[in-house]
Amino acid sequence: MARIKSVEDSIRDTEEPDHQLKKNLSALDLTVFGVGVIIGTGIFVLTGEVAKTDAGPAVAISFVVAGIVCGLAALCYAEFASTVPVAGSAYTFSYATLGEFIAWIIGWDLVLELALGAATVSVGWSEYLNQLLGVIGIPLPDSLAGENAVVNIPAIAIALIMTGVLVLGIKLSSRVTSVIVAIKVVIVLLVIVVGLFYIKAENYSPFIPPAKAPEGDGGGLAAPLVQTLFGFAPSTFGVGGIFAGAAIVFFAFIGFDIVATAAEETKNPKRDLPRGILGSLAVCTLLYVAVSLVVVGMQNYQDLSVAAPLAEAFKSVGLSFFSSLISVGALAGLTSVVLILMLGQSRVLFAMSRDRLLPPAIGKVHPKWGTPYRISIGTGIVVALLAGFLPISALAELVNIGTLFAFILVSIGVIVLRRTRPDLPRSFRVPWVPVLPIVSALACLWLMLNLPGETWLRFVIWMVLGLVLYFAYSHRHSRLAKGGTGERREEVASHPQG
Ligand code: ALA
Repeated sequence: MARIKSVEDSIRDTEEPDHQLKKNLSALDLTVFGVGVIIGTGIFVLTGEVAKTDAGPAVAISFVVAGIVCGLAALCYAEFASTVPVAGSAYTFSYATLGEFIAWIIGWDLVLELALGAATVSVGWSEYLNQLLGVIGIPLPDSLAGENAVVNIPAIAIALIMTGVLVLGIKLSSRVTSVIVAIKVVIVLLVIVVGLFYIKAENYSPFIPPAKAPEGDGGGLAAPLVQTLFGFAPSTFGVGGIFAGAAIVFFAFIGFDIVATAAEETKNPKRDLPRGILGSLAVCTLLYVAVSLVVVGMQNYQDLSVAAPLAEAFKSVGLSFFSSLISVGALAGLTSVVLILMLGQSRVLFAMSRDRLLPPAIGKVHPKWGTPYRISIGTGIVVALLAGFLPISALAELVNIGTLFAFILVSIGVIVLRRTRPDLPRSFRVPWVPVLPIVSALACLWLMLNLPGETWLRFVIWMVLGLVLYFAYSHRHSRLAKGGTGERREEVASHPQG
């Protein structure tokens, strides 16, 4: 029989003394958190790559497509978060609806989004730092910084510094983020407003470049799975390129779901969570479409830089000062993304350890700082190692596939919870259930299919590894396996040090 943890149990667990988080976030804090994690590598880096290799100026349409898919999923997240306001996001939601097995799969899958995402962005941060160091004449050698580094020192440093901020407490993290987010939004607005004056109409033509065969090794496993599955000849650009591009710029939207992971630390989750999730997503979608239209208007898509497209576009029209300013903004922007992705990761692992799917000792909350410090430190070390030693940028697509998969399960979960627990109070309700959640799940699947075959392969390997772990450890140690809440409380009492 499927082990399902009741919603009431999930909420009750948050009151367990040793495992309690402080509740001090408002709707505005959540929106700031959302924008803080959403705007990052996606807009600052991927815009150029997608325009150049997949979609041309129609990258703006790719952003719209990805934004719509995320909007649908966001509605489902908002209903869930307002019904089950407990740390752990998609993991917790699925535990309450689809059962422990699916919950484990989701929790394991979220590591791709959160830890791997944080590592990917840390590597990007290192590139931007080195670019700025280059401007003032002291660049680090390629072996110590940037995507191809042997040991990526700045990437390790940023991951560890952000870990320190997290361990010291959510309040400090949210204050640090507010400042960073403000800088980032101002820079993005500057790009839009100043760039507007440098747009050349001819750069928009053709707006959707005609489809053509990919250069180099664009077929086989490197082609979007949908092309391989349906036997299409591999191609880039054209309408197919818009969708392939959407599957990649999807990365730019990752983060709104993380707002839900802070549910337990929110003062009034039922009202503030939906506002925070949908609000931050709406703001970012508008900014992305505007920024991408401006950038492909300033510079021909074939000439865009892959590493720093926004900064380079400004350089190309002679605005070097703005170019440096954008790099500073990008650096600040990526900092908050790393921070919040790691925050999300530590909260998901926290929820998993509270359910004993992971050893309970790692989930202990610090008596003074009120944070799950052991998990935060562990996450930070793993992210630092990944960012420091792996050429992680190639794996960014893995982050997307993992996240889209989580969105699918959350969408299905909304329908299931409406059937199994119609009685639960929902301050936010998705309209047109079950049609909208089904459309949301299908839309996410469509984007997944537009990712390369090799990404699917890596994804499947990671998930199989998760299954092995589940049956080797978690299934037997799960608190539900041991008779649920009552017995677990005794366990906690007999291990006061966690
Ligand atoms: N959305 C985040 C970014 O673009 C992950 O960096």
